[in-house]
Amino acid sequence: MSQKTIVLGVTGCIAAYKSCALVREFQRAGHRVKVIMTEHATHFVDPVTFRALTHEKVAIDLFDDPADPIHHISLAQEADIFLIAPCTANMMAKVAHGIADDLLSTAALATTAPLVIAPAMNVHMYEAAATQENMKTLRSRGVKFIEPDAGYLACGDVGKGRLSEPTDIANAVIALFDEKKDLVGKKFLITAGPTRERIDPVRYITNDSSGKMGFALAEAARDRGAEVTLVSGPVSLENPAGVNVIKIESARDLLEACKKPFEACDAAIFAAAVADKRPARMADAKLKKGQDDDLLGHIELIDNPDVLATLAANKGDRVVVGFAAETNDVLANARRKLEKKGADFIVANEVGHGKAFGTADNEVWFVSENGEEHEPAASKRQISDAILDQIVKRFR
Ligand code: PMT
Repeated sequence: MSQKTIVLGVTGCIAAYKSCALVREFQRAGHRVKVIMTEHATHFVDPVTFRALTHEKVAIDLFDDPADPIHHISLAQEADIFLIAPCTANMMAKVAHGIADDLLSTAALATTAPLVIAPAMNVHMYEAAATQENMKTLRSRGVKFIEPDAGYLACGDVGKGRLSEPTDIANAVIALFDEKKDLVGKKFLITAGPTRERIDPVRYITNDSSGKMGFALAEAARDRGAEVTLVSGPVSLENPAGVNVIKIESARDLLEACKKPFEACDAAIFAAAVADKRPARMADAKLKKGQDDDLLGHIELIDNPDVLATLAANKGDRVVVGFAAETNDVLANARRKLEKKGADFIVANEVGHGKAFGTADNEVWFVSENGEEHEPAASKRQISDAILDQIVKRFR
């Protein structure tokens, strides 16, 4: 990989000493590091240490380089990645609100490079509503976070707030340089999460889908340059930044919401766990025990539309991917779904007994007319990239 420049912002926190090891990690990987320290950070580590490590001037004050009158802009422009590690609650708040009152916050506002933040602070400061809101705002603007670790904190408290280890921070940042951009110009439709099929205003039929698989797919496609529409059932995940998210409830809503984005897309991935049936009627008022026992005990179910099969019937040149969630005979059932649904390939996963639904990892098989390919257990993000690799092979 060619040498990249990492502008490393160091803020006033006991974990500032770990930034010295972080500099070394980047250098070992062949990258150049330029350090900006806040004035508070200099109370924890002497700038001379960073100067000796980086063989570069260490920038602290907006006006400390007479040879470069617009110091903050040149630093901002030099960055291939702008990393703040450790980042205090105060610096995070400034970046979230566009406050530029020192060199680091000004350069962070001025940079167009990807911004990565590795927070470090007391657990209560980390959990404070203001800090969490600021993180949410920054995430929604595409800022990447390297979450702090939990453990014993310098102040004596125990909890989340320890700066992540320098090797982990360096690996996460270096992985960003490796990110493929092979989906630029491509439009993706991705479905995620469960559907809810109403029995009455307070009861419904649903399933255990958390939406994690579909959301991971949306984030992976976005990061590889695609324009992504994510149609999701009710989940408690945060909307991924830079993705067009449409929230739905029922299978019929899902079909309606998918029609337009499907027409416009180059590829569609159906990861939603859609209810095959719904109650024939939804009661207007809550069904009551004792009074509506007959209705509650005999809920008539009728077929829902098959969203994937309906849309794939007019797939044209699009690459269409279905999932198969199976508790048994995974490959045989997936093959039946491949034939029935009209997808280019099926991502088969075993579900139930703690598998796939709600988990961070997944293990899948790609089932197509060419045979079966096993993808060993990995994070849903890694599985997503493997699915996208399969799709890229099918783009003409
Ligand atoms: O959300 P997570 O907690 O991360 O869990 C992930 C997952 C297990 C939900 C996911 O990996 C998965 O398997 N999704 C598909 C679940 C499912 O509904 O499988 P199925 O075998 O019942 O359906 C086959 C395919 O047809 C799926 O692509 C499904 O989206 C689609 N379908 C099904 C029924 C229907 N009425 N319309 C559909 O479009």
